[in-house]
Amino acid sequence: MKLWSGMLSGDLDKFAEEFNSSIKIDQRLVFDDIKGSIAHVKMLKKTQIIEADQADKIIMGLQIIKQKLLDGKLEIDLSSEDIHSFIESALIKEIGEVGKKMHTARSRNDQVTTDLRLHLRDEVENIGSILKEYLKILCEVADKNKETIMPGYTHLQAAQPLTFAHHLMAYAMMGLRDLERLEDLKKRINSSPLGACALAGTTYPIDREFTARELGFESIMQNSMDAVSDRDYILELQSVLSIIGIHLSRLSEELIIWSSQPYHFVSIDDKFSTGSSIMPQKKNPDMAELIRSKSAKLIGNMNQSFVMLKGLPLAYSKDMQEDKESIFDSVDTIKISLQVMAGQIKSLKVNKEKMLEACKDGFLNATDLADYLVNKGENFRDAHHISARLVKYGIENNKTLDEIDLDIYKDESDLFDEDIYQEIDIKKCVNERKSLGGPAKKEVERQIAFVLEKLN
Ligand code: ARG
Repeated sequence: MKLWSGMLSGDLDKFAEEFNSSIKIDQRLVFDDIKGSIAHVKMLKKTQIIEADQADKIIMGLQIIKQKLLDGKLEIDLSSEDIHSFIESALIKEIGEVGKKMHTARSRNDQVTTDLRLHLRDEVENIGSILKEYLKILCEVADKNKETIMPGYTHLQAAQPLTFAHHLMAYAMMGLRDLERLEDLKKRINSSPLGACALAGTTYPIDREFTARELGFESIMQNSMDAVSDRDYILELQSVLSIIGIHLSRLSEELIIWSSQPYHFVSIDDKFSTGSSIMPQKKNPDMAELIRSKSAKLIGNMNQSFVMLKGLPLAYSKDMQEDKESIFDSVDTIKISLQVMAGQIKSLKVNKEKMLEACKDGFLNATDLADYLVNKGENFRDAHHISARLVKYGIENNKTLDEIDLDIYKDESDLFDEDIYQEIDIKKCVNERKSLGGPAKKEVERQIAFVLEKLN
């Protein structure tokens, strides 16, 4: 029997029945639904909309159902229309006719979005904790690599030397903002739509403050039409999860590049690698590649939510039933992606020699060469040209800047002296970059402390 079958004749077409059912997706709201219903019935009791002993019976029935589900003594009937229908019919089976009073002064329209808000509120909490763990690992590995010098790139062309710690901390800063975004959207998820009923509230003397308090909502949605129609909390969460996904995909891409043969900067642990069925020598960064591609799914899910809502008239339309599959998928996807990435980073082998060696290749200290001249009184533009000519000389003669003879330097400018060699020493180049945000050891230490403090 359908909840709504009173006026309609006969059964749904068998394809329509299957098409209409959402229980395979919304069954994960089962405990949120029970929680919401208990709060609702407590309110019905308090406001004397239903009799106290009847309310007590319903609440007890809901608790029994919850326990039976937890104990595996009751299974969710996947032929039900949705989780709300299932719980209501399970309740009526459990306690009889009185169960039919549960849905007084409520609609599935306010019920479903209440459930979803309760559910996502918890999931945001879970994602936040997983994100924090990942950020701690970034800090941990950064802390071990404050002196691991590597080339920094722009356009994927060697640019200036920095450290592996500095590079990782860039991702930690992104993650910190992601965390802030999650924290911030919590308050918009955590607002109670319960009591909005179908769309226009109710003539029963309900107490929306009571149910909001019972369910731990921070605020109450102030317009019943908005309360049942709003899904911007989903759009917002989808957006934030997509941003996290994008950040993870960029780090994945770097891991893939760094672990490739011309680089050999890092080696991804075997626990996070796969082999080839034909090429015996292969170790492939599959997990990094998957995380990179999962970001596409997150963006796809986000897009689906946006397009689903676009142009929908108020209030509820069945289109909204489709809000769940994609947000649940995004929640699952981001959690596992963060966990895999955290494990990968924690177990990463860092090849310090290779990173340092790569610094010799790209004339990473050319800026420092120009800065040397500026410090001796040259203007930056001319210093830049002089340094560029010396780089060109180096390329043509297969020499790094520190291998070029002093008289060649002097031919370019009389400002050059013996001290040039220590000034363009790679280590010095990194550690002199003490400006706020830079790669100098002390400065990266400060950045690590900054993130760890925010995490506590
Ligand atoms: N399964 C539905 C959903 O997820 C519940 C709300 C149904 N409301 C309605 N008016 N048909 O959206």
